[in-house]
Amino acid sequence: MRFILACDLVRHRFSVVLPVLFLLMTGFASRSLALSVQQLTVNGRTNPLGIAGDDISLSWAGETPERGMVQSSYRIRIGNKENSGEVWDSGEVKSDRQIDVVLPPNVRLEPASRYYWQVRVWDGHGVASDWSGPAWFETGLLSAADWSGAKWIAGKTSATNPSSLPLCRDVFKLAKTVKSARVYASAHGLYQLSINGQKAGDQYLAPGWTDYNRRIQAQAYDVTALLRKGENVMGVALGDGWYRGKVGLNWSHIYGDTLAFIAKLQVVYTDGSTETFITDEKWRSVQGPFVQADLQDGESYDARLEQAGWDGAEFDSSNWTPVAVVSDDSSKLVPQPDEPIRATEVLAARTRSEPVLGEYVYDLRQNVVGVARIRMSGKKGQTVRIRYGEELYRQGAKQGQLYTENLRTAKVTDTYTFAKAGTIAYQPTFTQHGFRYVEITGLDVAPDAKDVQGVVLGSDLPNIGDLRLSNPMLNQLVRNIAWGQRGNFLSIPTDTPARDERLGWSGDISLFSPTACRYRDTRAFLSKLMDDVRDAQKPDGNIPAVVPQPRHEFDETGVGWSDAFITVPYAVWHATGDTRIVRRNWEAMKHFYGFVHDSAMKDGNLLEEERSSWFSGDWLNLENVDRLEEHKVIATAYFAEDTRMMSEMAVAMGETKEAAEWSALVPKIREAFVAAYRHADGSIYTGTQTVYAMALGMDLIADPVQRKQTAAKFVEKLAADNYHLRTGFLGTPWLLPALSKIGRDDLAMRLLLNEDYPSWGFEIRMGATTMWERWNGIRADGSFGPVDMNSFNHYAYGAVGDWTFQHLGGLEILEPGYKKSRIAPLIGHGLNHAECGIHTPFGLLASEWQLINGELKLTVTVPDNTSAEVVVPATSAESVREGKAAAASAPGVKQASFRDGYLTVLLGAGKYEFTASQMGLAKR
Ligand code: BGC
Repeated sequence: MRFILACDLVRHRFSVVLPVLFLLMTGFASRSLALSVQQLTVNGRTNPLGIAGDDISLSWAGETPERGMVQSSYRIRIGNKENSGEVWDSGEVKSDRQIDVVLPPNVRLEPASRYYWQVRVWDGHGVASDWSGPAWFETGLLSAADWSGAKWIAGKTSATNPSSLPLCRDVFKLAKTVKSARVYASAHGLYQLSINGQKAGDQYLAPGWTDYNRRIQAQAYDVTALLRKGENVMGVALGDGWYRGKVGLNWSHIYGDTLAFIAKLQVVYTDGSTETFITDEKWRSVQGPFVQADLQDGESYDARLEQAGWDGAEFDSSNWTPVAVVSDDSSKLVPQPDEPIRATEVLAARTRSEPVLGEYVYDLRQNVVGVARIRMSGKKGQTVRIRYGEELYRQGAKQGQLYTENLRTAKVTDTYTFAKAGTIAYQPTFTQHGFRYVEITGLDVAPDAKDVQGVVLGSDLPNIGDLRLSNPMLNQLVRNIAWGQRGNFLSIPTDTPARDERLGWSGDISLFSPTACRYRDTRAFLSKLMDDVRDAQKPDGNIPAVVPQPRHEFDETGVGWSDAFITVPYAVWHATGDTRIVRRNWEAMKHFYGFVHDSAMKDGNLLEEERSSWFSGDWLNLENVDRLEEHKVIATAYFAEDTRMMSEMAVAMGETKEAAEWSALVPKIREAFVAAYRHADGSIYTGTQTVYAMALGMDLIADPVQRKQTAAKFVEKLAADNYHLRTGFLGTPWLLPALSKIGRDDLAMRLLLNEDYPSWGFEIRMGATTMWERWNGIRADGSFGPVDMNSFNHYAYGAVGDWTFQHLGGLEILEPGYKKSRIAPLIGHGLNHAECGIHTPFGLLASEWQLINGELKLTVTVPDNTSAEVVVPATSAESVREGKAAAASAPGVKQASFRDGYLTVLLGAGKYEFTASQMGLAKR
């Protein structure tokens, strides 16, 4: 398969390739050796450094070239050394479980310790694999006491410029040769750590965003290679970040006024002895070259204030000022649980223009999140201004100039002042922009396009899924959704990375999370978000509309927004089979569900007509409707969905009483919905596309006759809208699923393939490289939509990605984690080829089909220990072949049945190649 940029990456990460090579080289492939264990993850991460020690969750994937592999038992061993099991040996456990396997409570992990672990599995014939290669995880500092008395230190800022930012440093002496060393660190504000002049680690914008009044993340760095015997220097530069800088709508100083830093260096020498160094009053500081830095406004860097070699041992800091020790906040420190923000790609500008004399505009041809890296030449004291934008004016007097009005109060401007004449490279450290274009002014000579790059920043979630189709517009849509996720998943899932706001709107992630889980392994990232949600939960169980919740702004609830506390854990569990995110939040989720339930049950009619706020109803839809009236219908639909999800998760949690109670409630809520909002002619109250999409997509109408009538009304409504969407945030995720559910894939494809306004295709025709916030972000004449809210990188409408992976890629989840999947790609409908793959926690699940000369070739890969129903359109059962055999009797096929022009086969794990003539089948 070729889709597999993503998979190459994952392959690399999970090192699937080596054992196979080994087998090929030795030519030795007995059954036990052919079965291997791969993809070892801890809390959804590969070899994580510096994690908490109290909820270790292990997952792995079996792999064998044989078909039909199931896992009958497993054994795990954990030790302080590779290939040992002195910390814990599970013994052989008869179970097919391989995801979210937890350590027993009596296994207590030490702080700052590395643990190696391995797994072996037995297949359905009782044949064992060898032990997997060792994977590891390392705990961070687990309590305030583990920080060994490290102090929070605040550095020097300029008396005339209180927003200027300090550099701090300390010298320490290592008497012996270092075997290994770790720094644990965090800050009030942002920090960048260096040792002996080199950046420690590969992360950016640490410590990330949490509600700092409750929880501050600490990072762990392996600094072994940066240290040497003798004198060493630890240096840190501090920036405002979310702590002191602008957050949301021009709010600042939310968490405090003083930036501070804390660190502990722990060294293990080759002779086994250890030594610890901590931040304390001995550290010294100076006002550095970061004159000011803000996530929204940008960074000002004055190279004249650089202290050359400041974080090296040779530097003389005798004229620096001692730091101040500020009040201790260590009780709030927790190890960061998810992948850090990293620079994941660097894109060179493709073109340069000069719309105004001396204003050079560079185009990356991709809307990204990050910062620019610029090589430029200037004179001593010359200040360069760098601005960023998602769009250029497309018409009028300003055509070709940077469009920044949609950024609202965010200044999104960096400046660099040259210390001396020459050529330098500048990349801001303490800011982040959402941009496709970079505008540079103040230089005598314009840098070449190749000297202006976009450094892409984002939480570095493993890339697991890809979809390629024989339609360029749809491929662009798949990419736009991916970029929207990439950019907005930056410590928290933000609504937009560009304008002021950049908040964790719970509704946006609620709608997008099923799609997000198709593209990336979201387990650690969204689990961290749920920690934030728990921090923000109110005494009555309710959740605010934005999380983290700054300053009690947007503190209101809202249907479709606060429900994220059910829908997001559900989406992650459903997509991965990993119960950890549900387990960790279950009590708090039940508390929230209780709030929803009680509000709906108050009047005894099972209708949830409350929980409304200013954004209630279908946000940003294109219908002419009273949104508060529409809200009632949506709210009861959500009550039914919340209850369904809770009942399924209760089963996974082993809570049979709740599971039974809630699953019995679901049909009752659905009946109440029908009684209240479905008219006798089948139409649904308020008549918007959204209410139909929810009623049918969420299966709210049980009676088949009623359902059919409503389906007809839905189609009538679409026809009245000239088969164009009119849905907003809440309705869009349900639009195409509802059409598929009523057997109208043809209409789903029609909406998806539209290229005139309003549609996904329209955005692409207008040049979108990420998802827009509103359908009319740019109008057909090139003018911009309402300026007060017009982000060009807002992932909500990317929620259609779940449908595209399921129906065009053909990968449907029948049991959580694709333990059982259904592979039924839509064949035809204007496409002649599709390939889709997802690295599930069980392994690679993939499907690829093509039509050549009227023959369908469908290749599927089903991960070990899972099964799949594969649906092949055909004229008869006999006309479908798998390899050389009749499909129904091919090895690995457990059942086959032919109905209505489709052969459905039930398969065990393995790779299968089906062929079936499509001649004589109705055109699709
Ligand atoms: C945000 C949205 C959010 C909405 C609330 C907007 O300002 O950008 O994404 O969900 O407010 O309705």
